Amino acid sequence: MNEPFDAVSVIRTKRDRNRIPDPQIDWVIDAYTRGIVAEEQMAALAMAILLNGMEGDELSRWTDAMIGSGERLDLSGVRRPTTDKHSTGGVGDKITLPLAPLVAALGAAVPQLSGRGLGHTGGTLDKLESIPGWRAEVSNADFIQQLNEIGAVICAAGDGLAPADRKLYALRDVTATVEAIPLIASSIMSKKIAEGSSSLVLDVKVGTGAFMKTEAQARTLAETMVALGTAAGTHTVALLTDMDTPLGLTVGNALEVRESIEVLAGGGPADVVELTVALAIQMLAGAGITGVDPADALADGRAMDVWRAMIRAQGGDPDATLPVAAEKHVVTSRVTGVLTRLDAYAVGVAAWRLGAGRARKEDQVSAAAGINLLVKPGDSVVTGQPLLVLHADDPDRFDRALQALEGGYDITPGGTFTPSPLIIDKIGR
Ligand code: URA
Repeated sequence: MNEPFDAVSVIRTKRDRNRIPDPQIDWVIDAYTRGIVAEEQMAALAMAILLNGMEGDELSRWTDAMIGSGERLDLSGVRRPTTDKHSTGGVGDKITLPLAPLVAALGAAVPQLSGRGLGHTGGTLDKLESIPGWRAEVSNADFIQQLNEIGAVICAAGDGLAPADRKLYALRDVTATVEAIPLIASSIMSKKIAEGSSSLVLDVKVGTGAFMKTEAQARTLAETMVALGTAAGTHTVALLTDMDTPLGLTVGNALEVRESIEVLAGGGPADVVELTVALAIQMLAGAGITGVDPADALADGRAMDVWRAMIRAQGGDPDATLPVAAEKHVVTSRVTGVLTRLDAYAVGVAAWRLGAGRARKEDQVSAAAGINLLVKPGDSVVTGQPLLVLHADDPDRFDRALQALEGGYDITPGGTFTPSPLIIDKIGR
């Protein structure tokens, strides 16, 4: 087939800091997906975008072209207003687990297509797969039926959504172009918009355990994604939230499921509850549901009822015993003082090395591995007091996990700790 453009001139346009014309954007994404534009050409274009950026409408067109590379889910058969959430990823971020059933309990439909974890942040599907029998694959027909009957589905995204992104993301990973804000924003939003939900809430994490280390970067990413969602007709808002410290008291798949169940039972750590309720309020508002209090649906068991139905519908047993690691190692305090810092990245890497996460896509994760945090910043501790419990199937993993934790926390004799807000700001309205 004769191609209407050539990749070299598209690369040259961006290299020379010009806007890529719409037809060329459509072509380059399509031709890359078809294998006509070579990997090295797309790598050069991605680097030119990283260095020179993209204009707002140029990025919208790029995102539309990525969506157009695959299918768009048709949620027209869903009888409730649809609303979805995406988190840019953090340590101990199990919020989707209590959030999806909570929002469904209050009348919305939550079509949550999730991923598996890579690196130091965990994946929602890995967490749910620690529940015996639960399966991540759901057919299109069952997906719509579950949304109508139960209100929430958390499942694996099919290969058909934004296939251009799958290729491009893998290429960015090996060409030092992951960090480009236009490429991150279009990658996330192409998948989320293709999921077809009418409203979307983004949880953009800021801090050591997040992709975006500074508030300024996170704000720019959030604003870019909100603009893309809005341009595509999806009601989109973002919360900027803190990820300097892990969320809650557990990091690791089955450990995080247990903590989520505590939240659904009306308990659980205050930070997990705070963020779950705050995101639920935004999701419900996006779905046009107001005048309800998500905290009530956690306290009175309505969210738990939806959770149980949602797990059962996907083959899981909500009453099954969750896996427990064969080996434990307790980290104790060497001094008396106040815990003034507990670094999310250090804890995330330690949990990953214990087996909770994967280094390559094809690696298996351990359901039981992970870390219990017995103290959080602001707590006073005494010499010899247990701080963390490490869980692993294989005791040989403890040494490398302990190395990751070295320098990952501060206990200051006579120290004081001023908590920073968990929810930093809201972008969009
Ligand atoms: N997550 C994505 O889906 N894409 C990115 O580019 C970064 C994070």
